[in-house]
Amino acid sequence: MQVVTSSQVLGAAPVQPSPAALRHGVVPMPNLAWTPEVARETAPLYEKVKSIIPPIEWPFHAPYVKAINDLKKQRNAVILAHNYQTPEIYNCVADVVGDSLQLARIAGQSDADVIVQGGVHFMAETSKILSPDKTVLIPDSRAGCSLASSITGADVRALRRKYPGVPIVAYVNTSAEVKAEVDICCTSSNALKVVESLGADTVIMVPDRFLAANIARQTKVKIIAWHGACEVHERFTAEELLRYREDDPSIKLVAHPECPPEVVDVCDFSGSTAAMIDYVKTRQPKRVLLVTECSMADNVAAENPGVDFVRPCNLCPHMKRITLPKILDSLVYMREEVVVDPILAARARRSVERMIELK
Ligand code: 13P
Ligand code: SF4
Repeated sequence: MQVVTSSQVLGAAPVQPSPAALRHGVVPMPNLAWTPEVARETAPLYEKVKSIIPPIEWPFHAPYVKAINDLKKQRNAVILAHNYQTPEIYNCVADVVGDSLQLARIAGQSDADVIVQGGVHFMAETSKILSPDKTVLIPDSRAGCSLASSITGADVRALRRKYPGVPIVAYVNTSAEVKAEVDICCTSSNALKVVESLGADTVIMVPDRFLAANIARQTKVKIIAWHGACEVHERFTAEELLRYREDDPSIKLVAHPECPPEVVDVCDFSGSTAAMIDYVKTRQPKRVLLVTECSMADNVAAENPGVDFVRPCNLCPHMKRITLPKILDSLVYMREEVVVDPILAARARRSVERMIELK
């Protein structure tokens, strides 16, 4: 079987070497045939995903998995994949998987020459901000985020004028331009700690109004929130979750803090994607519903065969833009390179590093 790349499918004109390909070397597109060698080499990886990827689909994924893993060595590249990436990316080609905070920490420490971000654009930008000397690639630069696009640097400057002296915390789900304007960043795993570290009576949190509302209930600090929301998590409702609980009172409901507070209220636990995974791994509930993006249940299910996952499927269309063929194109053609103006990056780095340094 011969599998073709995304650019071949589209019948695109021959690709000119990108500036990054000229720096790192031009390599040919690997052979993508499904051969006995590919089957043999990828068999241990298939073991990890066989409960979620049917055998009939594996010959389509396996040639990409082998080609990507070979090219990573050749390019001295690492793939940093968010917990919402699809199972074949998460389990078969990622070097590091995690939540936003874990990926940011690794991006700053890795000694690879190239970072390929399995995630959305703000994550790749954060990697570039923390590793300005590395080549950072995003397989599809259209992978955005409804939170990141809900606020600009000019909006933050307007908030400063309206609330002089009030510190501003930006969720990492923001552009470099926004990070450059704020006092400190936070992620869903450290937002409370970040807010309380500022020693202020009032703090502005941008851009997620639900994360801000969920934090406001846990602290005496007065929170002023921007009006953004995650298009995936805002869709969950308390009513729908209560129906699952009516059907099975023993079910555990585990929510991401980007969900509305009334959704978090009916859940047993709320935390970052990494904290949600940890909850399942350590508690091993009989049945669980992860109130978050849909691929996470697949990824966690592969690692927890004894847990029954109930799956209402809310997909993040941005996360799903990243696919194995696009990751391979990224590594072959060294595109799409993430570029952040160095002066802006230096200002944004202060906000991200201030967060990372918080113990
Ligand atoms: P985490 O930092 O919890 O992984 O969340 C990132 C994100 O985009 C959730 O929608
Ligand atoms: Fe943004 Fe929501 Fe997608 Fe996360 S799940 S990347 S917050 S749109």
